[in-house]
Amino acid sequence: MKTISVESIDSTNTYLKKLKKPKEDILIIAKKQTGGRGTKGRSFICEEGGVYMSLLKLYPCKAEESFSIMMNSAVAVVKTLSAFDVKAKIKWPNDIMVNGKKICGILIENVFEGEDVARSIVGIGLNVNNPIGKEIKDIAISIKEVLAKEVSVATVVATLVFNLYQQTSFEEYKKHLLYMGEEVTVITQKSTYRTVIDDILPNGNIKTSDGEILSSAEITIRG
Ligand code: BTN
Repeated sequence: MKTISVESIDSTNTYLKKLKKPKEDILIIAKKQTGGRGTKGRSFICEEGGVYMSLLKLYPCKAEESFSIMMNSAVAVVKTLSAFDVKAKIKWPNDIMVNGKKICGILIENVFEGEDVARSIVGIGLNVNNPIGKEIKDIAISIKEVLAKEVSVATVVATLVFNLYQQTSFEEYKKHLLYMGEEVTVITQKSTYRTVIDDILPNGNIKTSDGEILSSAEITIRG
């Protein structure tokens, strides 16, 4: 694996996405991002002191198994936080939450070749020692805030990279999931309604108690 460290960049995911034919896995870590990107086309705030990194992994992985990439990344973050005594849960599909607030966001961008994912870019934005602005205090949290002390960003990155290369299981992912068996608000482009999360299927879709199957691309869930 090749590692690139930079002071500042628009987006570590965008940098890796532009590479035409990478020959090996590449990790890029930035102290700052000027155009951090989140899921669903949103922007992602990146104050200095956080971990902003993307890992390009070469596969193949069958397209229908691509949820395993999401699952693996979320569990890797939960395990990393646990190594620092921070107990985190996964808000489906892959937001990482502590005490009801988001501590880490993951943006996965897959490059397809035919039926396969040829490579995937896993972008991770983790609040470590960075300040959490007033405007997001109610919804975001950092490791520093949880532990009431700073931790080494380099050690967090090293632990994260180690965990990203460990294989996880569906059972492990499910064990860390929030809202299983609970009533939640489902927000789609067309409507918002309350329902109960019954189960998660191995392809990553959610089954509700009304028998509906929901895919992460289409909906947002709130507790
Ligand atoms: C989200 O919560 O919506 C996902 C946020 C992902 C942010 C990370 S920071 C490193 C990488 N580069 C980006 O531009 N985004 C991801």
